[in-house]
Formats: sequence, C-alpha cells, structure tokens
Amino acid sequence: MANLRVGLIGIGGMGGCHYGNYKDVKGATLVAVADVRVDMAKEKTAGTGINVYSDYKEMIEKENLDMVDICTPSYMHKDMAIYCLSKGLHVLCEKPMTINKEDAEEVVKAANATDKYFMAAHVVRFMAPYAYLREVIKSNELGKLLRLDMKRISAIPTWSWEDWMRDEKRSGGVITDLSIHDIDYVQSIFGMPDKISCVHHGLKNNNDFAVTEMVYGDTIVSCEGTWYNAGIPFHATYLAVFENGYVESTDKIYKNGVAIGGDEKKAEELELGINIGNDNGYLNEIQYFVDCVNNGVSPDFITPESSCSTMKLVDTIKDAAVKL
Ligand SMILES: NC(=O)c1ccc[n+]([C@@H]2O[C@H](COP(=O)([O-])OP(=O)(O)OC[C@H]3O[C@@H](n4cnc5c(N)ncnc54)[C@H](O)[C@@H]3O)[C@@H](O)[C@H]2O)c1
Repeated sequence: MANLRVGLIGIGGMGGCHYGNYKDVKGATLVAVADVRVDMAKEKTAGTGINVYSDYKEMIEKENLDMVDICTPSYMHKDMAIYCLSKGLHVLCEKPMTINKEDAEEVVKAANATDKYFMAAHVVRFMAPYAYLREVIKSNELGKLLRLDMKRISAIPTWSWEDWMRDEKRSGGVITDLSIHDIDYVQSIFGMPDKISCVHHGLKNNNDFAVTEMVYGDTIVSCEGTWYNAGIPFHATYLAVFENGYVESTDKIYKNGVAIGGDEKKAEELELGINIGNDNGYLNEIQYFVDCVNNGVSPDFITPESSCSTMKLVDTIKDAAVKL
C-alpha cells in the first residue's frame, strides 16, 4: 500500500481532532501542518517531527504532498480547495465545503477539471447511529419512514480563531455550520425535499437556533440546530418512527426501545466496508478518503456533487426561513 504524504491546513479545534486521528490512519502519514498560529501548531505537534508552516502554499511547495486535509474557517475553504486541486493534490475538506452554493459549484468545477479527488468531510454519514438508521430506512425492515426528528444542540462556540464562527459572513451561521450535519445526512438519503419550512432565531445575545421541516412525500423530517447561550454539553440525537417500529439514538442506539449497541456496531455490518468499531466517525472518514486515493477509486460515498447539493439545500432553507 502506498503511504500518502498528508499536509493538514488549520490545527484549531477540528484540525486538532483530525491530527489526533492520523496516528491510526493506515496508508498515510501526516508530514506537515500549516497554521497561521505557528506557535500553537508547534506546541501541538512538539516531538513528532512534523514540519510546521505559517503559509499553506509554502508547505505545498516544500513538502511534496499527495493530499491535504483542510480544517480552516469555512469561508477559506473555497479558495484553499481550488488552489490545492490546482497543485495536483487530493483534498479532504471539513464541512461545510464552502459557505454558499455558488462557491460550492466552483469547487465542484475545479474538482471535475482534475483527476484528483475532493471530499467534504460530512462525518455524520460515517457515524454508527446514522449508518444504522440509513440501513433501516433502505432495507424497509420497519416499513416506511413516517417521521424523523433530528437534534443537534451545543453551547454557542466562543472558542474559534478570531471568533469567526459567530460571524455569519464567515461561518454561514448555525444552519450552515451546525444543522448542515443533519441536513446533509437527510439529503444524502432522500435528495431534495418536496416542501421546506424553517424558523430561525438569528444570532442575538449569543443564541442562534433554527428548526427546519422538510417533507418528502408524506414523510416529515425535522432538523434542529442550536447554539445556546448556556453551558449545555454538545449532544446530537434522533428519533425515527416507521410504520412498524422506531429507532432512536441518544446515549445508545435503540430499536423499539431495546438498546442494540451503537458504539460496538461494526462498519462491515453497516455497508461502509470499514471498521467503525468505537464509532470514531472522524477516523472513518479520513481512512475512507485515504483508501480511495490509494486504491484509485473515486470517493462515491460523498461526491463533490452530493456535498454541493447539500449547500444548495442549506441555502434554500435559509432563504425560506422565517427570521425571528
Ligand atoms: N465535522 C465536525 O464535527 C466539525 C466540528 C467543528 C468544526 N468543523 C469545521 O471545521 C472547520 C474548522 O473549524 P474549527 O472549529 O477547527 O475552527 P478553529 O477556529 O478552532 O480553527 C481554525 C484554525 O485555522 C487556522 N487558520 C486561520 N487562517 C488560516 C490560514 N490562512 N492558513 C492556515 N490556518 C489558518 C486558525 O489559526 C485555527 O487554528 C470549519 O469549517 C468548521 O465548520 C467541523
């Protein structure tokens, strides 16, 4: 197996999470990190031999990379992804792939103009509770899905570099940044909804939350994405009610009220073909992309077009939102 040389761009919150996972990734080695906060990056990588740069273009020039992993603030993704693709690199890019659909279309165009791969890191698609639910929906084992209620709740992020996350122009706000996890999951299974409604309490006094309803035929899906001005621990849950039963994900996955595991659920049982043993979605998504590159197989689990469709849906929801 080839051993890809990977450069990480941005080693803040999510970059730090990706960084921690590379030691377990097979077929790739993280050789360099670029972050404008060089001292912080040096501190995080101390003793590893990983080279640190302040400028990602210099890193690309010097490191003979095969792949980059972009974990910078969302408004930077478009330019960075297009630049890296133009330099002949495979690109794994944190969600959202860009902060609006127009930029997403440009990235798709750039990806399609090369033989390199681009994948938006929609981690939820790789997480066990969501992989399990997808399987139940697709297999029809509980009959038709009637209702899916997804919630993603967090304290307002106050920790981001230059506070970019609380700036709608740079992050897209709570729908583009947070609710997108569930919206993308729904879009990846059902496509574009027949009807959309949304109520959005825009960012005021450190609260920003939105409740979106999407109708597919007579199935009703809702996605709540919330940043509250309260010390609520992050949690993501769903309740899926079918004609003949229900599946729920809270602390574990439950089917008709019986815990069926969740974190022990193996990926090979969940159609992904990779090991998601302890439900480390972040490791799974990186490993999936690395395997695709090493095997010369285009990552069809999340295509550029699919993540672009998610951006289109997110923007449609925001346009339709009743703003409070
Ligand atoms: N998948 C998930 O669960 C998840 C969770 C949180 C964030 N994210 C996404 O990850 C991305 C990063 O978010 P975060 O929480 O890590 O933000 P962050 O502010 O914690 O980190 C961003 C990092 O980028 C660095 N940076 C800024 N400009 C740079 C440049 N020009 N070159 C190199 N580095 C630069 C900053 O110094 C900082 O270290 C965002 O797109 C966000 O939406 C995804």
